[in-house]
Amino acid sequence: TRVGAVVPAAGRGERLGGGTPKALRPLAGRPMLLRAVETLLASAHVTQVVVAAPPTLVDVVGQILGPGVCVVPGGGERVDSVRTALDALDDDIGVVLVHDAARPLTPATLVDAVATAVLAGHPAVIPVLPVTDTVKEIDADGRVVRTPRRDMLRAVQTPQGFRRDILRTAYANRDLPVTDDAGLVEALGVPVTTIPGAEEAFKVTRPVDLVLAEALLADSLA
Ligand code: CTP
Ligand code: MG
Repeated sequence: TRVGAVVPAAGRGERLGGGTPKALRPLAGRPMLLRAVETLLASAHVTQVVVAAPPTLVDVVGQILGPGVCVVPGGGERVDSVRTALDALDDDIGVVLVHDAARPLTPATLVDAVATAVLAGHPAVIPVLPVTDTVKEIDADGRVVRTPRRDMLRAVQTPQGFRRDILRTAYANRDLPVTDDAGLVEALGVPVTTIPGAEEAFKVTRPVDLVLAEALLADSLA
């Protein structure tokens, strides 16, 4: 079975700020997206990568990533970007990894672990970490409704891996208000398997995350 990867990279990075689209923000001099794509290609499993770029930057991103990577214009929401990228995968890709451009320090071992678990027969696989803050569910007025048990909660990362046919079916229902790809698959009643995530696979979302990423890179070069 061939494994392909799609990389949503078309977001505006509003929470990070700073002007440049987030995927092209440099980390130790190299764009975050380039780091994420290189990690995917470093996996022995991944044979095709499709990137959803900001529509006005498709050519620029293509230049940065080189001829081996397919670049398509992303959409208004993350689901739109993922869907467009999924459509561009080769027909014989049977397993798909969906990986955020905004997780530039994800270890290649995590990519391999997700791919291996899907190839072993799990239809949907997500990397997760225990939650460290207590999480509250609130109502529209900000009043606390309930406090789920923290030991039963997990924070979810990417890459998330899926059998391609299942992800395609899941994306036919994409109107659901979910914030990750596995959420669409869960809605189909397909079991979603968790595997241990990696702390370095954190998402660069706010300015403090960029500081952490730079510090980790500086450390690993020392
Ligand atoms: N993404 C995308 N297309 C969109 C929105 C998001 O491809 N329309 C991608 C982002 O580029 C990122 C990933 O989805 O790699 C995770 O999204 P997030 O961290 O929310 O990034 P942004 O949407 O860019 O950031 P923000 O929400 O702060 O604007
Ligand atoms: Mg976003």
